[in-house]
Amino acid sequence: MITHSSASGDRTQQLYRRGRELIPGGTQLLSKRPEMYAPELWPAYFQSAKGITLTDLDGRVFQDFSTMGIGACLLGYGCDAVDEAVITRIRNGSTSTLNAPEEVALAEKLVALHPWAQQARFTRAGGEAMAVAVRIARTVTDRSVVAVCGYHGWSDWYLAANLMGGDALGGHLLPGLEPAGVPAELTGTTFTFRYNQPAELEAICARHGKRLAAIVMEPMRHDPPRDGFLEKVRAMADRFGAVLIHDEITNGFRANFGGSHLRLGVDPDIAVFAKALGNGYPIGAVIGRAAVMDGAQQAFISSTSWTEGIGSTAGLATLLEMERLQPWSRITAVADRVMQGWRDLAQSHGLAFTVHGGGNLCALHFGPGEDANAIRTLFTQEMLESGYLAGAGFYPCAAHTLNHVEVYLGAVDRVFADIAAARATGNIRAKLKHREADQGFRRLT
Ligand SMILES: Cc1ncc(COP(=O)(O)O)c(C=O)c1O
Repeated sequence: MITHSSASGDRTQQLYRRGRELIPGGTQLLSKRPEMYAPELWPAYFQSAKGITLTDLDGRVFQDFSTMGIGACLLGYGCDAVDEAVITRIRNGSTSTLNAPEEVALAEKLVALHPWAQQARFTRAGGEAMAVAVRIARTVTDRSVVAVCGYHGWSDWYLAANLMGGDALGGHLLPGLEPAGVPAELTGTTFTFRYNQPAELEAICARHGKRLAAIVMEPMRHDPPRDGFLEKVRAMADRFGAVLIHDEITNGFRANFGGSHLRLGVDPDIAVFAKALGNGYPIGAVIGRAAVMDGAQQAFISSTSWTEGIGSTAGLATLLEMERLQPWSRITAVADRVMQGWRDLAQSHGLAFTVHGGGNLCALHFGPGEDANAIRTLFTQEMLESGYLAGAGFYPCAAHTLNHVEVYLGAVDRVFADIAAARATGNIRAKLKHREADQGFRRLT
């Protein structure tokens, strides 16, 4: 049974209104803006989180069937083994003039898991780890151009793809990313290609191959590679002497122990991890072949906060706990059951929704139809009333059980019935208590 108090949510919403005045954009991460889910309803803040259960500032309790900290908490919230290791590190001092020895143990573990890699550097966030990886690639190749597929954070090197006008990054997870504040002089340094479209990368190589420093991509997001796509990309990187960087920030560790490239069978020159690596504590890792990582010695890549001990301790403890639990087949079973449940329930209610998911990243599309975003908002609104954080994305974790899933699907069944009824009478938008959710980046007014 879901425990869900009937408190109004006033404190949580009021604090967010003040937060929006004091903090431009409301939060530090686009995907944690309540406006992305259900404006005025989605609880912006939590006071506690354990397993898959969160409590907001009004004491309302929710089960997380959304993204578990945007993919950061693969072992569930408040994982004891990781928390205990971190607490011990804190009691012994989390930072000092000297370095944290856990860095070496974490590097050992990561290169042992990825036999093609010999060295590691650490950051704390994912986007900055990607900036490190690109800096390394540009240094060792002494070139500047980057070919990119997918989303890789907020840095100049990435947003430069949108400097040529238009929204070249629009088809890459997040639409509407303005290159505001990115120097116009970076125009022509980053070019995009779409996943499973090797001809688009070939065209970039044909024009810029001699200046190509790096090819940057996720080995996989929701859909699997087709027709040897990853092998073709690998071959192009070799042919043009570019560094192949696999961004494993979201996919890494979700479906197997290590990067998703291990199960997809193609090795990069650099792989980048963050998110699940620390189970919510900040740790980013850039691992790579020794010859490529030499670029990290030549270039100036250095930051005080990358040396504190909590991140590396959490990373190490997370890997040890994953190794002990071996949670991947259970997480996959949960992902598969949720996706099958969505499909079956959509069909039984006559809703033509589509489901995508690979590597345990599940996505529900409320289309086709111009009201898809209104339906997504209504789904979240009604699931909140049933005690769930839920939307278009579901990232299962080790704390989700098949029992949780069955109760959740019962709620989805009721909400889909309401959506189908509202649609039949053409009043989806009339059922929304507030405005529709935002899609992609936009300025908050
Ligand atoms: C594939 C990928 N790369 C990079 C990032 C950026 O990581 P962070 O938000 O930790 O800076 C994300 C975040 O969602 C991501 O999904």
